[in-house]
Amino acid sequence: MCGIIGYIGYKNSLPILLDGLRRLEYRGYDSAGIALIENDKIEILKKAGKVSDLQDKLKNYSSQSTIGIGHTRWATHGAPNDINAHPHNNSDNSIALIHNGIIENYQTIKKKLLKDGCKFQSETDTEVLVHFISSFYKNGNDLFTATRLALSEVEGAYAILVISAKEKNKIIAARKGSPLVLGIGENEMFVASDASALISYTNKVVYLDDEEIVQLTSNNFVTKTITDEEIEKQIEKIDLEIGQIEKNNFDHFMLKEIYEQPESVKNSIRGRVLLEEGDAKLGGLQDFHDQLKKTKRIIITSCGTSWHASLVGEYIIEQMAGIPVEVEYASEFRYRSPVINSDDLIWSVSQSGETADTLASIREAKNKGAKTFGIVNVVGSSIARETSAGVYIHAGPEIGVASTKAFTSQVAVFGLIGLLLGRQRGMQIDQGRIIANEIISLPEKIKKALNCVDQVKKIVDEFKNTSNFLFLGRGTNFPTALEGALKLKEISYIHAEGYPAAEMKHGPIALIDDKMPVVFIVPKDNLYDKVMSNIQEVRARGGRIIAIANDDDDEIDNFAEFVIKVPRTLNYFGPILNIIPLQLLAYYMAIARGCNVDQPRNLAKSVTVE
Ligand code: M6R
Repeated sequence: MCGIIGYIGYKNSLPILLDGLRRLEYRGYDSAGIALIENDKIEILKKAGKVSDLQDKLKNYSSQSTIGIGHTRWATHGAPNDINAHPHNNSDNSIALIHNGIIENYQTIKKKLLKDGCKFQSETDTEVLVHFISSFYKNGNDLFTATRLALSEVEGAYAILVISAKEKNKIIAARKGSPLVLGIGENEMFVASDASALISYTNKVVYLDDEEIVQLTSNNFVTKTITDEEIEKQIEKIDLEIGQIEKNNFDHFMLKEIYEQPESVKNSIRGRVLLEEGDAKLGGLQDFHDQLKKTKRIIITSCGTSWHASLVGEYIIEQMAGIPVEVEYASEFRYRSPVINSDDLIWSVSQSGETADTLASIREAKNKGAKTFGIVNVVGSSIARETSAGVYIHAGPEIGVASTKAFTSQVAVFGLIGLLLGRQRGMQIDQGRIIANEIISLPEKIKKALNCVDQVKKIVDEFKNTSNFLFLGRGTNFPTALEGALKLKEISYIHAEGYPAAEMKHGPIALIDDKMPVVFIVPKDNLYDKVMSNIQEVRARGGRIIAIANDDDDEIDNFAEFVIKVPRTLNYFGPILNIIPLQLLAYYMAIARGCNVDQPRNLAKSVTVE
């Protein structure tokens, strides 16, 4: 989604803003722009396309400005063109504004402004907001008050930055529903959608909460609520190194993150497995053990890849602890008046911790009196702060739009949670030890699973011009099939579907012909023979079989045209190993088809609008 960066201080702001915009590219966008205060005037420079297109436009532009705001736009209202790109300004060009989110009552406000003679250049809801702020500014309010008063009448979600040529020493920032973080420097201040845009300058940050507005000067910040109450904000130190958000020697972030998985899963489980006790220790849940013991039902809410990991989590928690679990798309949960009982626990899973639908599901659950927990990657994100407890997955920054290492870490963390809940509810110590040992062995097994690039490339060569793929699996590998299909769709634009293998005969089998590649995830488990029968059914109809199997399975070689083997593990953790070749398949397929792997069309990394 849109990326926001602002700078006020003593340095030339233009290179800082452009650097910030490049760091925010991963969020997904289709135009970029900046506004600077040059002497007493606001200069707005914006362009449809990539940040590099904006840089080309700025090639001969020289600036002395020490205050400015920058934006990458992911279109919601109006096409991705130069005019709709942010920043937007008011009629006399005294105010410029950038915005992430959606102003839901913009039509009502626009009608009022049109009546007052206001002229609009773009189709965006954002331009309505800048004119609206301007209408309060003209009434003699300063920029902070004008922005606050306008926002108190706004419905919807926003993270905004506002500057004025008449108040050259301040940036006003505010948020509701979309993230914003301040970076505190020495005689300079930064503000951005996420810490990646400011980490090269400072590690001291302040996370804004919903309905908060802040006035930033080069050496101070003052925060209030939209309803005009003063608030004290805590400065926090973030533990993020610049190297973690760079590609290093990899061609793409996605590839780097695929190869990071032995390490990221190790980080997710580090210090949390009690081998001797056959148990797990999760600091974030330590004070909630009684609550967990009382829990009668867990409802997991999430979206996309996190939803797939949640489906594996459902299986793990039900099998290990015997607690009924339901997994809900966060976007559906929030609008269907879910029945929630007082001893239900809502557990939300999100890599970014900022997904609007997931956040809304948490708020819906809280309104109904439920306890809400999180499983989140980004430390300090909204979901981490809005839930009463939770577990960080500690996978490190995930920049590639296609989520990879977050999935394997989320499943590993579900393994720890399942073990903890299971041991609370009568799981024997021997069983606990088997699971604990298996969790510890996962990073080494992931390393082995990564040794499949040659086979993956053969499959890519054979099928790079195909238009459809089917992915089939059972048990925990049904979610693996869904995730494999999502990865392929997202970055190579091949239509792909994931199905439970046994469901195939209820419809999708009609699609099988001698052109259809079918990926079977067929580990040597209790359902092996059943899946082998499904393989026979596809073979009988001429389908092309690709199998993800275990390294001690020789039988499969007789039935599949392409076989990739990964180490054996417990069923619970199969998805962690089986997804590795499927991530690589999606990656190399996208490369072979000339697709932009890290910034696939139309996608955003962190979906902060509904
Ligand atoms: O940050 P979250 O885990 O909440 O994001 C959820 C989805 O938007 C995300 O997983 C999306 O589906 C990815 N593009 C998948 O690769």
